[in-house]
Amino acid sequence: MTISEEKRDNILPASLHGGRLQIDNLSVRFGGVRVFQKLNITIDKGEVLGIIGPNGAGKTTLVNVITGSVSATEGRIFFDGHEITGRSTHAVSRMGVVRSFQQTSTFRPASVRENISRAILFSGASDSVWQRISGLLEEFELSPQLEERSDKLPYGQQKMLGLVMSYVTSPRVLLLDEPAAGLDRRERHRVDRFLDEARRNLGCSILIIDHDMDLIRRLCPRVLVLNAGSVIADGRPADVLSDRSVIDAYLGSGDEE
Ligand SMILES: Nc1ncnc2c1ncn2[C@@H]1O[C@H](COP(=O)(O)OP(=O)(O)O)[C@@H](O)[C@H]1O
Ligand SMILES: [Mg+2]
Repeated sequence: MTISEEKRDNILPASLHGGRLQIDNLSVRFGGVRVFQKLNITIDKGEVLGIIGPNGAGKTTLVNVITGSVSATEGRIFFDGHEITGRSTHAVSRMGVVRSFQQTSTFRPASVRENISRAILFSGASDSVWQRISGLLEEFELSPQLEERSDKLPYGQQKMLGLVMSYVTSPRVLLLDEPAAGLDRRERHRVDRFLDEARRNLGCSILIIDHDMDLIRRLCPRVLVLNAGSVIADGRPADVLSDRSVIDAYLGSGDEE
């Protein structure tokens, strides 16, 4: 029995199911630099949306403004109909809108176990969540490393730890900024595995930003292309990735890897 089959038998509280994120007329400016101008994006309940685009397009800023670490200059963000614009990162994450913990933001001198415990504590989840991640820890080869310092782990495993740490907070919308960057081929497939687990067992909506077009094709039924703060394409990967304006703005530039 795979982990997913085993876990599907668990009945999840309704609160764990995915939420709808709606971005209305969002503008962000840093001094004189305009990152977005009246951006509109909706992520439906349970949807997996890929966002791609050249460096500097505003992808990370989008995640930052959703999660409250950057302020919107204009516009509003709603989560399941509740406005979250301007709320703190902590408030937004407690509602279930969570970005993956980055390798650089793991609690550095702590052990793998302690990092996961802190993520559980931070989100107010219960310790029973440990049972639900045992399969992921096994597959990511983190089980034998639980007592090791997280900052001594190889890079790929630190990234996997970051994903596990976001998972234990039971997100309803998960925002993944370049989860596959710097990973080798085998590790990239662990990102697939993680997404599958998150979708099946948490039912969460997922926004995934990455430069790995194979990964985006595999995981995202819908892809949106951001270029200089504007959406230049939005649709099925096959259509979007063969779109002339997308090739000109991004794919043709050799920027995709
Ligand atoms: N804190 C900041 N202060 C000033 N400019 C910023 C800040 N964060 C991002 N930017 C600028 O916003 C633009 C978009 O950056 P970013 O969101 O990181 O793009 P991407 O993730 O698509 O590569 C860039 O021009 C970047 O220099
Ligand atoms: Mg970025």
